[in-house]
Amino acid sequence: MIETLEWTDSGVRFIDQTKLPTEETYVVCKTYEQVADVIRDMIVRGAPAIGVSAAMGIALGVQNSKAENGGDLKRDFDKICDVIGKTRPTAVNLFWAIKRMQEKFERIRVRPIPQIKQELIDEAKRMHAEDIAANQAMGRNGATLMPASGGVLTHCNAGALATCGYGTALGVIRAAVEQGKHIHVYADETRPFLQGSRLTAWELMKDGIPTTVISDNMAGAMMRQGKINAIVVGADRIAANGDVANKIGTYSVAVLAKEHSIPFYVAAPFSTIDLDTPTGEGIPIEQRNAKEVTHIAGRQMVPEGVGVENPAFDVTPAQYVTAIITELGIARAPYTEALKKLGER
Ligand code: MRU
Repeated sequence: MIETLEWTDSGVRFIDQTKLPTEETYVVCKTYEQVADVIRDMIVRGAPAIGVSAAMGIALGVQNSKAENGGDLKRDFDKICDVIGKTRPTAVNLFWAIKRMQEKFERIRVRPIPQIKQELIDEAKRMHAEDIAANQAMGRNGATLMPASGGVLTHCNAGALATCGYGTALGVIRAAVEQGKHIHVYADETRPFLQGSRLTAWELMKDGIPTTVISDNMAGAMMRQGKINAIVVGADRIAANGDVANKIGTYSVAVLAKEHSIPFYVAAPFSTIDLDTPTGEGIPIEQRNAKEVTHIAGRQMVPEGVGVENPAFDVTPAQYVTAIITELGIARAPYTEALKKLGER
């Protein structure tokens, strides 16, 4: 079992995803500032994992607070939430998790400080357990959509490493395999950060699920050759109308899928659905350091001074999405009604 992140007596422990697949090492954060750095530097990444990391970071920060009265503790709490909220802008799970911790804090703030500290730790641990359960339910729901036998393409890493365990898109694949389906996964390499080749391939190999890595520009050719029967990806934020923000390159895959009449599925927990953002236009897209594009394994790959873009995510319009798989059920177009209805369950 892969422990992506975990609350321990000595701090919040993360598998260092920047070192995979060649080194399996762990980082233990003892302060909330360290947790913020770990999120920003993508030692932990993936929308649901970012959300629970934020909750654990807040619980850790409050645990370390020297406040002796409610007012001072509230001031510390707000500062911690503010620092953690500025780490990565696109995955709505970060803000969902901060809001849930804020609501918890408001409900218990009149209690003795040691009790508040413990209850925030318990809440963060509960979110960790709930995430795994949601992924397993999502897997059961989505497995029905997977072919009995065939190729399934995925982009980026929406697996155990992007969550607290089991995964969203990879959870759907895992559940299908557990049901006896014969799935061969095509993992897009996912430049520039290589989540597909480094992380998706690593965790699927551990599970013994047949996997082939392709570079991103091979996806269209694989579809044309009939090797891909379905596509399943995760999401960082889904707008109320079903537009999906996910790892850069997802949009190209979705457009290619439509051209080849291949179903394009998005698997995400309900905490990734942002009913307050009407369309994909309103989703903030993180711009990351140009060095992720200009250098591979420390070696410069472009001439000095050339222009570089590095948006970490793109938006796939809802019209390209065959279905959205959640732990609460499967939504299909028209998404505005379908997602609202799911939320009422
Ligand atoms: O930049 P990352 O690695 O955090 O981006 C991750 C993705 O885009 C995932 O597909 C998404 O968060 C879903 S993870 C279950």
